[in-house]
Parts: sequence; structure tokens; C-alpha cells
Amino acid sequence: MTERTSHPPNERDYLPGLGKHFLLPFYDVVHHLFGLAPIHQEMITLAGLRAGHRVLDVGCGTGNLLRSTGKRHRDVELVGLDPDPKALARARRKARRGRHVMRLDRGFAQELPYPDGSFDLVFSSLMLHHLDTASKDAMLAEVRRVLRPDGVLILADVVRDGHDHHAHRRIGTGRQMHEHLHDNIGDAVPKRIAAAGFTVEPTRTKTLRLGGTIGIEVARPR
Ligand SMILES: C[S@@+](CC[C@H](N)C(=O)[O-])C[C@H]1O[C@@H](n2cnc3c(N)ncnc32)[C@H](O)[C@@H]1O
Repeated sequence: MTERTSHPPNERDYLPGLGKHFLLPFYDVVHHLFGLAPIHQEMITLAGLRAGHRVLDVGCGTGNLLRSTGKRHRDVELVGLDPDPKALARARRKARRGRHVMRLDRGFAQELPYPDGSFDLVFSSLMLHHLDTASKDAMLAEVRRVLRPDGVLILADVVRDGHDHHAHRRIGTGRQMHEHLHDNIGDAVPKRIAAAGFTVEPTRTKTLRLGGTIGIEVARPR
């Protein structure tokens, strides 16, 4: 069993929720406008959680998926990780208000500070496209490492058809994220997950209220 520690988070090392640090206060409004809550609910349903399960949300942001999980399953252990201290502070406040018990860690998906085989379920919602190509592979290898052999990864991210290459620029999330979205064309995400040592179910797709398609991947260690 190995335990890794994350390197000190650095503002330059990650893309925050809406691509810019100053936009964080609007994250939950945008989350609501785009209609992301039903996607989180579907992810929780697919998870088939049982009492005592340990759940990790990688790139948990302001903690919406963890809170929704806690509302439906009071008897699971919730852990969230994100490099953004402001997002984590919001997640903490909201968890306190909702009387949810969860551990929130500052860290990076590419270097998860958890022992091997320590989670039954890993969630990742709309985080993958915040990473460059090498970091995506590092993240998936880390998820594979921290999952129990009978665990499950449930990952949601943007699906691109290759013709929407100006969409992210139009909504102002920047060149870097736009470049990262190149990795999401067609079935590239499930293929990447499979290459990291998972068996992946056929992608479930959902359309967002304001346009755009989200793919939900359910993957188990091979
Ligand atoms: C679009 S937000 C999604 C937040 C949340 N998962 C949700 O569904 O509302 C993307 C999140 O990924 C986080 N993120 C960016 N780079 C990361 C990294 N290297 N490791 C973990 N999280 C990262 C950002 O800080 C942000 O909170």
C-alpha cells in the first residue's frame, strides 16, 4: 500500500471552475442555469451506493455532487478533492449549512493523496476538460490506483462532435480549456479511460439546458 502526498497547490497549476478565478462566485448560478443537477442525480443513481461505501469526488469544486450524494445516502463516507481553495471554502460552508459530514482536501487529480484501493466509488464531474492530455492520463491512473478492485468510476464530461470548435470561446472560457476539449471529440474519453485499465460501459449522453452534450462514463477496473 502506498500513500502519496500532493505537491503544494499552485494557482498557476490548474484551471478553476469557470476558467477564471474571479468568476468563482458565479459558479453555482451557472451550474443551475446549465441544468447540471439532473446529471449529478443520474451519476448518483448509476453509482448503486451501499451503506459504508467510501466516495471520492475528484475536482469537487463547490461540493454540489457530494451534497446531493449525502442527501440521498446519509450512510456513506464522502471525500472531495480540488486545488481551488475558494471553491473548497464554499463547499465547506454549504456542507455545514446542510449538516453534511464530508472531508474536503486541497490537491490535484494527477497525484491523489490517498492509499491504494481506498474508495468504492470515484466521481468526476466536468473536471477532465480542465486537464491537459498528460494530466488526464495521470488522473485516470491515479483513480485506478485508489479504487478498490470491485469499485467504480463515474465520470461526466463534455462530448464534442468536432464541429463545435468555437463553442467554448463563445462562452468565454478561454484558449487553454478550448485546447483541452480537443481530447473529447467523439468516443475519445471512454477510449482514454479504457486505456487506463478500465472496462467502460457504453456512454450515456445528456443534453444541457443551454446547449452542449455531456457524456457519463461508468467504468470498472479490469
Ligand atoms: C467545471 S468545475 C466542476 C466542479 C464540480 N465537479 C461540478 O460538477 O460542479 C471543474 C473543477 O475542476 C477543478 N480542477 C481543475 N484542475 C484540477 C486538478 N488538476 N485536479 C483536481 N481538480 C481540478 C477546478 O478547480 C474546478 O473546481
